[in-house]
Parts: sequence; C-alpha cells; structure tokens
Amino acid sequence: MKRLLVLALAVTALFANAQAYPGSKPISFVVPFAAGGPTDRVARDLAQAMRKTLPGANFVIENVNGAGGTMGATKVAKANPDGHTLLLWHIGMASTPGLYRKLQYKPLEDFEYLGMVNDVPMTLIGRPQLPANTYRDFENYIKANGAKLNIAHAGLGSASHLCGLMWQSAVNAKVAMATIPFGGTAPAMTALVRGQVDVLCDQTTNTTSQIESGRVKAYAVTTAGRLTNHKLLKDYPSLQEMGLKGFNLTIWHGLYAPKGTPAAVLKQLNEALKLALKDPEFIKKQEDLGAIVVTDNRMEPAGHKAFVAAEIEKLKPLIEAAGKFAD
Ligand code: MLT
Repeated sequence: MKRLLVLALAVTALFANAQAYPGSKPISFVVPFAAGGPTDRVARDLAQAMRKTLPGANFVIENVNGAGGTMGATKVAKANPDGHTLLLWHIGMASTPGLYRKLQYKPLEDFEYLGMVNDVPMTLIGRPQLPANTYRDFENYIKANGAKLNIAHAGLGSASHLCGLMWQSAVNAKVAMATIPFGGTAPAMTALVRGQVDVLCDQTTNTTSQIESGRVKAYAVTTAGRLTNHKLLKDYPSLQEMGLKGFNLTIWHGLYAPKGTPAAVLKQLNEALKLALKDPEFIKKQEDLGAIVVTDNRMEPAGHKAFVAAEIEKLKPLIEAAGKFAD
C-alpha cells in the first residue's frame, strides 16, 4: 500500500511538474558564440518558431562565447536541469573532444539530447580586396603567400576553425596562415568586410547576404556537391569539384538540456521542436540562407545522440590529420 502511495505521489509530482512547464520563468537558449553570427541566427529563428509550438514559453537568447563554444556548453552542462536552460550548438559538440585535452563536461553523458535542427553548408570567402576572383586563383594565392596572410575563426573547435584546418590540410598548404580568433563569426565577418583579416570559412546562414551584396569575395562551398537549389550559391563550385578529393563539411545544429531534466519536460521540448521544424516560415528562412531543416530520425533524441557519437569518431582522425595547423 505504502509503495503504491509513493508511486502515486511521484507521478502526481511529475505530472504537476510537466503541467507547470514552461510556466512563467523564461527559457534561456544559450548560444555559445557572439550575437549576430550563424549559431545565434539559428537560435533566434528557432525560438520564434517554438514560441508557437510551446504555448506560454518565453525564450531568451543568452550569448555565452569563448573557447570555441565550450564555455557556453559548460554553462548548460552544469545548469539546473529544470528545462529553463537549453544549449543550441553545432558541430562543435563533436569537434571539440578531438581538440581540447580537458573539457568540463562529457558530451555524451552530461546532456539530454532534444533533437537536431538543421544542416548548414559553409563557404570559403575572402576580404573584398583579396587579389583572387576564382577558387583556383584563391588557392594559388594562399599557397604562395600563406605566411603573410591570416584566417579568422570563432575559437578552437568552432566550425570556422575546423573548416580552416581541414581546407589547409586538404590543399597541403606548406605554411599555415596565421589564425585570428573571435568570439563568433559575426565579429569575424565585420573584420573581413573591413579588410582587417584575409580569409574566413563560415556558414551560409552568415555569408549569403554578404556575398550577395559584394562585401566579400566567395570562392567555393564545402559540401560534396554544388548547392544547386540555391539561387546565388549554385554559382560557386564545391571544393571537391576543385580537386579536393572527398572534402565534405556540413555544419549541423542540435538542441540540448542538462542531464537529469525531467522526462516529461524533455518530451514536451522534443514535441515542440519537431513541430517547429515543420513550421513553413522557419523552413523558408533556413532555405533562403542555404540551410536544410532536418526531417530524418535525427529529430528524435536517440537519433540525435547516435549521430553526434558517430560524428565525434568521424572527426577525430580528420582533426588529427589537420591538427598541425591547430592554434
Ligand atoms: C563557428 O564558427 O563555429 C560559429 O558558426 C560561429 C558563430 O556562430 O558565430
């Protein structure tokens, strides 16, 4: 009898807790990079869509940058698991284990995986005055002048850092360019447009408008093939097309909660996320920026976690091979 009573109380509390969620307390979307960058953009667009699919939710974006995104991830890993502190992060969840000897969290144990959001190609771009107009000119110029040039990124393990590492390794750049870290690729892009840095590899969600306006020079996309469905980006070759065999880098974003968040809250968040991913307005915003909203089993927590576990293993040898270019 007593056991039945305890069970009934536990279920009531759980139900009450889930009933109460999200309640009036804001839900913080921790973005581990500076405001205005591609990760921040995905978070703001997703929060707008989830305000519709999680009635009563008051989302706030919290930019916590530093250490390639791992500062923000650490904050969420150690946050109160009540469903009011979430992490919106990307491939960095899988690249940083291969780049940081000591992370303050375990990627596969210290988070609840809520589902993935999108896949985003990257573009290799240069400052407007860079004396190269085609990818071939660009590669030759960098190979000949790498020692005098620099490449911007958002910190060790960021997508922009990973792309720069992989590209320099793939072209066998004899001399690595100097790397200039920023709190995110929003400030990196500002520096590039001003001609203060020479090269940046960044997500199309941040580069498309700059390319369209002519404020930067674009050379190639990092996906296996051309982005034939995009009115602007279809005109740029893939790096594979330019002879970099097997080069294929796509950035993905996922949503995470701290380990121990109540199952009922996790279920509510995953359901709200999946509905948001079907929101035509959200999908259009993403597609206009070259991103593709996920529709496969990565929308589910188990599929999300399995994908990240596989990405961690896939990226380790790539990073080791390119590692000589690490900061
Ligand atoms: C990165 O380069 O990892 C991020 O895209 C930077 C950002 O979102 O600002």
